[in-house]
Amino acid sequence: MAFEPKEEQKELKYDELRIYKDEELNNYTDEELKSFKVKHEIPDVEELEKGPWPSFVADAKREALHRQKLADDRMLIDRDVVDDMLGQLQVSFDEGETHWKHGGIVGVFGYGGGVIGRYSDLQERFPSIAHFHTLRVNQPASKFYNTDYLKCLCDLWEYRGSGLMNMHGSTGDIIFIGTTTEQLEPIFYELGHVLQQDLGGSGSNLRTPSCCLGRARCEWACYDTQQMCYELTHYYQDELHRPAFPYKFKFKFDGCPNCCVASIARSDMSFIGTWRDNIRIDQEAVQAYIGGEIAPNGGAHAGKDWGKFDIQKEVIDLCPTKCMWMEDGKLMIDDKECTRCMHCINVMPQALRPGTDTGVSILFGAKAPILEGAQMATLTVPFMKVEEPYDNVKELVEKVWDWWMEEGKNRERLGELIQRYGIPKFLEMLDLPPMPQMVKEPRSNPYIFWKEEDVPGGFKRDINDYRSRHKR
Ligand code: HEM
Ligand code: HEM
Ligand code: SF4
Ligand code: SF4
Repeated sequence: MAFEPKEEQKELKYDELRIYKDEELNNYTDEELKSFKVKHEIPDVEELEKGPWPSFVADAKREALHRQKLADDRMLIDRDVVDDMLGQLQVSFDEGETHWKHGGIVGVFGYGGGVIGRYSDLQERFPSIAHFHTLRVNQPASKFYNTDYLKCLCDLWEYRGSGLMNMHGSTGDIIFIGTTTEQLEPIFYELGHVLQQDLGGSGSNLRTPSCCLGRARCEWACYDTQQMCYELTHYYQDELHRPAFPYKFKFKFDGCPNCCVASIARSDMSFIGTWRDNIRIDQEAVQAYIGGEIAPNGGAHAGKDWGKFDIQKEVIDLCPTKCMWMEDGKLMIDDKECTRCMHCINVMPQALRPGTDTGVSILFGAKAPILEGAQMATLTVPFMKVEEPYDNVKELVEKVWDWWMEEGKNRERLGELIQRYGIPKFLEMLDLPPMPQMVKEPRSNPYIFWKEEDVPGGFKRDINDYRSRHKR
């Protein structure tokens, strides 16, 4: 059964929930900001404000000034936290060492993750940030929210935390940066009971699942990424909040091989939408692209002078499997050779579309370079149909988790375990046969060693029978 919320999702009204008045939110002028100095000398930190890009230093200074001008009873942690945070950063630059202590177990009741303990090791110099914990807030699917919701989150954090936020962390969460231990439970309560939002994952648990825009906005989505992300987030609440794994585990959901959330590079279990049938071709639209009536690439490179659109050069010659050609003025595709790279579809979206027999490819084992370098995911399930309540997916997830929890060493990511045991062992555990789709380049991939039971008739042979057919 798919997840049913026990409590109806309410539409938050900022005007009913707001903590601050407009005058308090806009409590300084541009003039004041220009002449504003934080409490500490921070020359190297200020260096980061130069250059063309927005800078977190400029944003942090605004927040510091804002806090300096708020009334005493309008914030529950120290006024100076932002000044002190910037001051400590300058010391770290001077000494080439961080002054954040990692660890010390802090959290909220019933959860083992979602809060990351941070303490300053220069508490005498920077007393306001003696504890300065981070909270991970589970982002809504595809990071869709309205301004009322955002403003409610911001007010809560302004009042009970530093006001500094990170939209979004690498896993996708909304990150609340810096508060004291006493504020953790009240924030958790307000988030859960008033804003109907949960904390995300941290530590050795399932990390906050994330998904691309999917069917909400994108015609290429081969399955409903938001629905699947929502369902698995609720179904695996226990794994998300109570760390029981050897290390972190990430799901990410991309609707098509364009891979907008980069699941292939950033998740232990990556879901990428794909199709089994043929790319849909509208030959008239192909002609319109060739004739220049439709701008290629959705007009994305229109400002550049690349000359007239050349279908041979820009599409056919760039197909990685060389499976396209023109024949009698028609674009032809040998779909059994197509690897679903999306290139041709991206260049000519009005002429080419993914097929209609859609589902996902599932890949395992990507990770960032903590041990032994970064690793991309390995294609394991070339195609699976996915429909609510995703029982086939859940079955696969649990097989993998059981194996990893049994065999994985402490702090060993799934991708490292697969490497240590080898792909054949992984496939055997999943009860999947080796398939051509898993092989990228025939002679450089690892060998598959057949076992006797895999070979018809086994390894035994009658040498005389053999010789009768093979002369010496
Ligand atoms: C004119 C002489 C030879 C020719 C034309 C020749 C040709 C080849 C060819 C075409 C292959 C297959 C390569 C592949 O699968 O990609 C091969 C593999 C092999 N040859 Fe030769 N060979 C010659 C002499 C020798 C000799 C004298 C030895 C050993 C003393 C030898 C040992 C091997 C071995 C061990 C392999 C397997 C390599 C592997 O692990 O894939 N070959 N040879
Ligand atoms: C103490 C001596 C040796 C050791 C430790 C050794 C070790 C190995 C190892 C570990 C492999 C790789 C096996 C695999 O990837 O599955 C291998 C392959 C090979 N060795 Fe040796 N080897 C030794 C002596 C020899 C000698 C003396 C020859 C030839 C006269 C030889 C010929 C080969 C060949 C042809 C292969 C490739 C087999 C294949 O294509 O699967 N080796 N050896
Ligand atoms: S991954 Fe594909 S389906 Fe998802 S938003 Fe990107 S292009 Fe669209
Ligand atoms: S999707 Fe990629 S591999 Fe498939 S036909 Fe188009 S360019 Fe070629």
